[in-house]
This record gives sequence, C-alpha cells and structure tokens, in this order.
Amino acid sequence: MTTLLTPDTIQLQKISELPTELALRQAATFLSQLVKDSDFLESLILPLLEEARGRGDWYVAYRHDSEDSSHSLQVFVWPPGTGTKIHDHSSWGAYCCAIGSVFEERYERLDDGSRPDHARLKKVWQLSWSSEDGASTVLPGDGGIHRVGNPDESTAISVHLYGPKIGEVDGRDYDPSRDYVCDRRED
Ligand SMILES: [Fe+2]
Repeated sequence: MTTLLTPDTIQLQKISELPTELALRQAATFLSQLVKDSDFLESLILPLLEEARGRGDWYVAYRHDSEDSSHSLQVFVWPPGTGTKIHDHSSWGAYCCAIGSVFEERYERLDDGSRPDHARLKKVWQLSWSSEDGASTVLPGDGGIHRVGNPDESTAISVHLYGPKIGEVDGRDYDPSRDYVCDRRED
C-alpha cells in the first residue's frame, strides 16, 4: 500500500520534531509544494481518479507511517457527495487538495469538557479548499474539530500529514444532534 508513496522522510521527520505551530507552518508548505509536483501527480494521484469511480464513500488510498509513529502521510480520495463525521485528531494535522476541492466545516466546543461523552459544539467557519488555497491545519483535540467532505460532482483528492499522537486514541467523533462525543480508535 505504501510502495508508491515515497515521501521525503528526512524532511517529514524534521517537521514532526518541531513545536506544533512551527510544524504546522512547515507541513502546510510541504503539502502545498507536494501537490504541485508533476511526478507525484502523474504517478500517484491521477491514477486514483480512475480507481475512485463507483466508490461509494471516501477512503484513504495511500498511507505512509513513520516507524517511530512521529508522522503519517496519507492520500484521501473523496468521491462526489462523500464526507466525514465531525471529528478531531489526537495529533496536529494539515491537508492540501491535489485534485478538485473539499469543503471543511470547523467547530469549537461550548462546554468545558467536564461531562463524560458530552460535547456541545458551535460551527465557527466553513471554507472550500482547492490546491490554490494552500493547506488547512488543525491543532490536536479541541483545537481542530471539523468535518471534511466533497459536495461537488467530481472526485477530489487531498494529501494529509499528521504529527505525533498525544494520546492512545486516534481522535474523537462528535454527534451534535445529541451533544455526544466518543473516542475513535484506528481499525
Ligand atoms: Fe480530520
């Protein structure tokens, strides 16, 4: 699964060792440049458009995890009309579109987190991101509660970089219809 994805692992390692704010700035620059790299686009990204036909949901087409779990580079494919639940991550993250655009809604918590399984959310912004718009970034946990999807009629592909995890779980999933939050673990 990772054979085609040959990232500059030394650069990614350096980014993953930086303090969060600086890491996010450099991750955004790295991804913005990567999605404009013609070799990367032709060898890895464009073939995914064919593969994505008929897929009913979004999926991670490629994933490269560092051996020390300090970073993970992932390529997401978003067929038309697909999207995530509202969620956060237990690491910082950055993503940039390589093909098409994705629509992101960002939320913040109104509660203080003291009640188990309870979270009250408020939407704070929504934006459409294409490769021209650069990378969107999220802080770990409450600093990056979002939903990402593709409401358009053509497939979108985005490239994501995640930093070191600060907890055991992968992140949390939210259901604002019942003010609910629960941990999310990798499959
Ligand atoms: Fe996310």
